[in-house]
Amino acid sequence: MSKFLIAPSILSADFARLGEDVEAVLKAGADVVHFDVMDNHYVPNLTIGPMVCKALRSYGITAPIDVHLMVKPVDTMISQFAKAGASIITFHPEASEHIDRSLQLIKELGCKAGLVLNPATPLSCLEFVMDKLDVILLMSVNPGFGGQSFIPQTLDKLKQVRKLIDDSGFDIRLQVDGGVKVDNIKEIAEAGADMFVAGSAIFNQADYKLVIDEMRSELAE
Ligand code: DX5
Ligand code: ZN
Repeated sequence: MSKFLIAPSILSADFARLGEDVEAVLKAGADVVHFDVMDNHYVPNLTIGPMVCKALRSYGITAPIDVHLMVKPVDTMISQFAKAGASIITFHPEASEHIDRSLQLIKELGCKAGLVLNPATPLSCLEFVMDKLDVILLMSVNPGFGGQSFIPQTLDKLKQVRKLIDDSGFDIRLQVDGGVKVDNIKEIAEAGADMFVAGSAIFNQADYKLVIDEMRSELAE
C-alpha cells in the first residue's frame, strides 16, 4: 500500500447518482471511499446508512470503504456496516459506552478499526487500546458538515499522535478529516498524517483527477 492514501468523502458527492460518482472518483485516482454516517443525534445532521454501503458493493465498487460513524450508540451500526461490506470502521469514543468492546467487535467482524478524535478530544483515550487500532482519525473540523475550515491546532495534535504511533511500534494509519485542500495537504502531511479525507475540495470541482493529481504532487514535494 502506498505511503499516502487519499480518501474522498462522499458526503460531498452527488447522492442522486452516487454509484457513478464514486466510480468516477476512484477512476480519478482515489485510494479509499470515505463514507460519512450521521444520525442527527451524535451530530446535527443526517446522512446514509448500511443499505447504501451494500448498494455500492452491489453496484461493483471494490475499493476499500472507510465508514466514519458519527452515531450514538455505535455497536448495532458496526455489525450492520460489517455485513454491508465496510472495510474500515471508525467511531468516536464519546459515542461508545465500552470503547475496547466496540473495537474488538469491529475486528471480530473482519474489518479494520479506528477511533476518531474531535478537535477538543484529548489523546488519553488512545493509551490502552493502541494494539487494537488500525487507524487514528483526527477531526480537523467539528463533525457534522462538509465544507468547513481546517482548525490549525490540529497540526500540533497530529505531531503528538505521530509520535505516539511511532513510539508504539504498531502499524497505525494517521488520518485527518475536515478542510483538507490542495493548499494545506503538504503541511498536514509534514505534521504526520498519511491518510487524507477530502470532500468539498474534490467533489466541488468538475475534474476530480486534476485535484487528486495536484494533491499527490504536493505530497511528493
Ligand atoms: C465531517 C465529515 C467529513 C467531511 C469533510 O463531519 O466527517 O468527512 O465530509 O468534508 P470537507 O473535506 O469538505 O471538509
Ligand atoms: Zn468523515
